[in-house]
Amino acid sequence: MKKALASLALGVFLAGSLNAAEKADPRLELMKEMRTMMDAMEQIQRGGLYSSGDEMKQGVKKLQGTLKSLESEDVKAILPKDQVYAYKFAQKTAHMLRLYSDDLIASVEAGRMDNALDDYTQLLKQCMSCHIRIRNW
Ligand code: HEC
Repeated sequence: MKKALASLALGVFLAGSLNAAEKADPRLELMKEMRTMMDAMEQIQRGGLYSSGDEMKQGVKKLQGTLKSLESEDVKAILPKDQVYAYKFAQKTAHMLRLYSDDLIASVEAGRMDNALDDYTQLLKQCMSCHIRIRNW
């Protein structure tokens, strides 16, 4: 019984430390952020299709919440090694995502849904351009 309890405790301990390791792994964190980015993009698109400026703005907020990790050095964990250019490119893309998402909010607030959808397209281009490049590096 004591032995069973001890191994149970060990199991909990191991599961706990595994969890901690997962949190500390910047690669996993970034992949989580990527999925959040995709959610955000879907929300912006849904907002656009339903002409809901509020939903678009919520999506932009979600997207902007992920940009810090794209801008930080952590992003190197998912970029090809020995590529200074890759990191510079990631920073530039994050900057563009910030610019176009700010512009998207301004467009919605000005009641310009056509401009807002242009901004959305520009955002999507940033995602694609990094994904395509990463594969070609
Ligand atoms: C600076 C480069 C870069 C930018 C910008 C970028 N991504 Fe990614 N993304 C990556 C890399 C690298 C991977 C991992 C590819 C791999 O190893 O399979 C990835 C993976 C993903 C994944 C898969 C996550 C998983 O669970 O496997 C999704 C979804 C994704 N990105 C969405 C987006 C969206 C949406 C945007 C734009 C808002 C975006 N990404 C912008 C580099 C980028």
